[in-house]
Amino acid sequence: MLRAGARVAALPAWGHTSGRESVRRSDEVTDRDADGGTMGAERTEWTAIELLESDEVAEPLLAGGVRCHGGFGSDGGYLPPRTRFRTPAIEAWQARHRDEFRSEIIEAPLDMWPEPYPNLAQTRYLLGEGVRDPIVTILTRIGTVEGFGALIRHVGFGDPQRHFAESVAGTAVAHLENGLFEAHARDEAGWESEAGHKDMWFAARDIAFEHPVTEDETALMLERMGISTPGAPPSPEAMLQAASEMRIFADIDLSLEMTIRRMISILLIEVQAFHLFAWAEDLLSDDGLVAGEGAAARLVACIRADETPHVEYLRTALTEMRDRTFVGESGRGHPGDEVIGRLWDDAVADSLGPRREQQLRTTVAEVEHALAGHRRRDEILEGFHARGTVHPATA
Ligand SMILES: [Fe+2]
Ligand SMILES: [Fe+2]
Repeated sequence: MLRAGARVAALPAWGHTSGRESVRRSDEVTDRDADGGTMGAERTEWTAIELLESDEVAEPLLAGGVRCHGGFGSDGGYLPPRTRFRTPAIEAWQARHRDEFRSEIIEAPLDMWPEPYPNLAQTRYLLGEGVRDPIVTILTRIGTVEGFGALIRHVGFGDPQRHFAESVAGTAVAHLENGLFEAHARDEAGWESEAGHKDMWFAARDIAFEHPVTEDETALMLERMGISTPGAPPSPEAMLQAASEMRIFADIDLSLEMTIRRMISILLIEVQAFHLFAWAEDLLSDDGLVAGEGAAARLVACIRADETPHVEYLRTALTEMRDRTFVGESGRGHPGDEVIGRLWDDAVADSLGPRREQQLRTTVAEVEHALAGHRRRDEILEGFHARGTVHPATA
């Protein structure tokens, strides 16, 4: 069981940075970055096996009887999975990039996204009224979407060097298909006998709400939320077909554009998830509202710690591409900041626009669904909306 005293690092600094709306290259580097330290001396070439290697743990992470990835070191601190070399590798790639290109790593400021819906006050109100189903649904949706992160192992663009004018040796880009995507996929969907984030969120839900749903109910619930759960990943042909319909850069390799799209969209989801972590940790640690004596919240804190390498490698690789020149299929060069900037702006607009709208609609519909037939339906709905700052129209 996840221990009460288990230590998990606080939110990473990037989660609270503000400001840059765009990913256009900045030529300014801070003094800290410019003076270098050990920059250039750190190792930047790694094997996939090394990038997938975990630290030795003194105690495994168990949650509600589920063996999860990661574990605790002899000092009691939580050790995320597969970070023994991945974390120093990412730090070395970042340092090398700052050193060579004199530019900063792309940031996706958390405050670009609004607070979760429903917010904490609304969530507490529903639970206080005994209306648990919408919260169970939201936790199930989070776990399911986490599992989709494993799709990243199905994208790629072959030899990375042929797409760029400048060398990509010793970069995160050169390691995407050589350990980084696979580590990410295993973290999200689990690997071998160890549960990943998908099942860890389900375990948190089951601890807090004491196994609230059956598999059949889960499928129906996800359908209501507009999420389909295909048994098998889409075929590479189907993914390419979908990508060709969205294609923006006719001269750039389609699988490369598709991979970048996927990387940006996952990065934006990862960053927004930090709002959800705060919401979930607060809620699931409240003994008055949920079961488990805080164990579910501590599990979510471990998931949060595991997300840091995802955000870090994605923003590093995207920065490396931004500051290079893409080589098109015609042999023509395309400035990286134009390619990454355009795909980034599209993804942000989608995330803040249609994607959020859809999520708000399905969430409020789920609250109404849970209250259907309730004798105090109107009163509870009114109380729910009164505690929120967002009032989505229903579908
Ligand atoms: Fe995750
Ligand atoms: Fe993640």
